[in-house]
Amino acid sequence: MDLDLSGKHALVCGASDGIGKAAAIELALLGADVTVLARREAALQQVVAELPVVREGQVHGWRVGDDGQTQALSDTVTALAAERPIHILVNNGGGPPGGTAAEAELDAYLTAFRHHLLANQTRVQAVLPGMRAAGWGRIVNVVSTSVYEPIPNLGVSNTTRGAVAGWAKTLSRELGPSNITINNVLPGFTRTARMDHIIADRIQANGGTAETAVEAIAANIPLRRVAEAAEVAAAIAFLASPAAGYITGISLAVDGGRMQSI
Ligand SMILES: NC(=O)c1ccc[n+]([C@@H]2O[C@H](COP(=O)([O-])OP(=O)(O)OC[C@H]3O[C@@H](n4cnc5c(N)ncnc54)[C@H](OP(=O)(O)O)[C@@H]3O)[C@@H](O)[C@H]2O)c1
Repeated sequence: MDLDLSGKHALVCGASDGIGKAAAIELALLGADVTVLARREAALQQVVAELPVVREGQVHGWRVGDDGQTQALSDTVTALAAERPIHILVNNGGGPPGGTAAEAELDAYLTAFRHHLLANQTRVQAVLPGMRAAGWGRIVNVVSTSVYEPIPNLGVSNTTRGAVAGWAKTLSRELGPSNITINNVLPGFTRTARMDHIIADRIQANGGTAETAVEAIAANIPLRRVAEAAEVAAAIAFLASPAAGYITGISLAVDGGRMQSI
């Protein structure tokens, strides 16, 4: 199986922490030159210092960017792609806050669409010329299992994720003829800062401790545990690899079997 990403340039967003950071590590292990993007520069520098170097000449870097600043984000990614074409784009960032769909403010929906749909769109538009010129491209969006099964008390997130899934499926049809694939990875409960926030919300709503909240989550997962970020990252890295060249337009759950739907 060809997993070699030597000579490929990957842009991994939301990579100062969590799933994004784990994805950057996996792509670097497969030989890619990785640029990590997020808001906190010091954290990004630390990630770059930790990224594996597995071949001669492999270089990693960082760019500061905020998914909420659409034009600045577009400028940053366009400039990066002009310096060196981007072959692999991992669209990832922070998840929207919790709460019901009914009670969410209109601005919460607008903000979430900006952070997810518009940030993804602006990055795709910036990297497409390079991918088309190379005749090869991989786009992987980190979304959520709520694409298939809405998650209670994540109303704005559920809504936005559905939009991202529809956008990605549409793009898969448009970009396929250019040998550019686009797929979604849907993490289940994954041990990151994001999960800590979800646990805190549950404790506030239902009481208990972090330990009992995680146990309650794990009890509903066939594999009886939450995921490690590296396990989600492995799926991202596979979809970014040459081996996944005939896979496009899918949403791959990495959820320990939690979803009920087939
Ligand atoms: N963990 C889970 O259980 C789980 C489950 C389902 C779906 N997901 C989804 O998977 C994605 C990643 O989750 P995670 O658990 O890895 O989250 P995380 O640990 O909170 O990490 C989020 C990353 O995104 C960056 N980020 C946040 N806001 C940003 C912004 N406005 N602009 C640019 N970068 C931003 C953060 O860095 P900076 O703060 O430096 O910007 C950080 O690197 C999210 O969409 C999340 O909702 C997670």
